[in-house]
Amino acid sequence: MPNRRQFIKASVAGLLGASLFRPTRGHANLTSFELSASNGQFMFGDDQENATQVMFYNQSIPGPVIRIPQGRESIVQLRNSLDEPTSVHWHGLRIDNAMDGVPDLTQPPVMPGQQFEYHLTPPDAGTYWYHSHMRSWAQLALGLAGVLIVEEANPPRVDQDLVFAIDDWRLDREMQMDTESFGSMHDWSHGGRLGNFITINGETEPSFEVASGERVRLRLLNIANARIMNLLFNESGISVVAIDGQPVEAFTPEDGRIVLAPGQRADLIIDMTADPGTRSAIELVIGEYAYEVAGFDYSQQARRAQLLDTPIRLPDNPANKIVLPTEFKRVPLLMQGGAMGGMRGAIFEGRELDIRELVQRQKVWALNGIVGMPAEPLFSVRRGTAVSLDVHNDNNWPHAMHIHGHHFIHDRNPGWWRDTTLFQRGERGAMQFVADNPGKWLIHCHMVEHMAGGMLTWFEVT
Ligand code: C2O
Ligand code: CU
Repeated sequence: MPNRRQFIKASVAGLLGASLFRPTRGHANLTSFELSASNGQFMFGDDQENATQVMFYNQSIPGPVIRIPQGRESIVQLRNSLDEPTSVHWHGLRIDNAMDGVPDLTQPPVMPGQQFEYHLTPPDAGTYWYHSHMRSWAQLALGLAGVLIVEEANPPRVDQDLVFAIDDWRLDREMQMDTESFGSMHDWSHGGRLGNFITINGETEPSFEVASGERVRLRLLNIANARIMNLLFNESGISVVAIDGQPVEAFTPEDGRIVLAPGQRADLIIDMTADPGTRSAIELVIGEYAYEVAGFDYSQQARRAQLLDTPIRLPDNPANKIVLPTEFKRVPLLMQGGAMGGMRGAIFEGRELDIRELVQRQKVWALNGIVGMPAEPLFSVRRGTAVSLDVHNDNNWPHAMHIHGHHFIHDRNPGWWRDTTLFQRGERGAMQFVADNPGKWLIHCHMVEHMAGGMLTWFEVT
């Protein structure tokens, strides 16, 4: 990976985060937004000579921050102004299956020039995101992603509520997307498409203006295609209060380190304790290197002398109040394939293919011996059935497994209701949940090249 400082360096102070989304029209009790997906140009820095050709929502990278209320219906009207089909998935929301945005499973692709009206009634507050689910290995890499916040009726008292959406891009020397590497078999069979240019909220090395004594809520999201983000905070007053949108027992991350796999989120509450006028770096650790990717800039004036001492606990969501039974329908999930994985063959579109034939078709990742979307669901259960996916990650790569429409417990962390969890190579573990949302739901790796390379399946709740 080239040193990111070899790229054009831009310092963007001030405005943080994509433009806040304002409702376009308000019916009584109904918030409505318009989201337009289009091709366009984006400047990754002030002094960038060549604008970068991207795909974006409402001409913003990432897309606008959408804030909607918990438990009430909001409408997002998607307009497809691209020259290819698309769809929007609301990552982590436990909503109606018909609104889940998976082309050919829950809706037809939205064709160029067409619109689709998404009705969202999220039962759970928290930090989520939205992104294209159509050719996501290209559309996500080109910019079709944004942050979605479901607001608590009674949010905890903080001085600032900030978004920190980290992404990586693969750009060439002219700051153009390296589109030639789309579909690269090397990426697909290894760790996925890793970028060489890091942004936070679409900016390079942004500064978050804070004041000593403040309490800040920082919503962290990894919206990259495939990179596991290993973040290092140099603040002592950090509490993690939510994981993948769901409240957790607050804890202090060890050594200030927070690891987010693609798709994962964490909400932090930070009591800002550094001295006025100083800067504290937020770093991205890659191998032995720590790159400063953002920072807290402390104003000369402290906000208050005494830190707030009200306890830190987000209001519970229905999702994290679910009680798992002790008996499950057990479903094995064997994850195989990839480079150095030793997979010899698998079933693709109903036929047994050897590894050479699979490589030709770019289908190199298998779940239970099947690559690509199976005709039959992995399992089909009646609503309310408790399911344990007993995972064996039997290959040489980590994978960020995501379940649509449900939150689950990864048995490694019994208190956390997640929608995306990382399995290290060789790891065994269970993803346990109550299948309580009727419809057809995907399970896939969120390293989207792995999904495209075959690591996806689905289940049905009747
Ligand atoms: Cu965030 Cu199926 O994806
Ligand atoms: Cu994967």
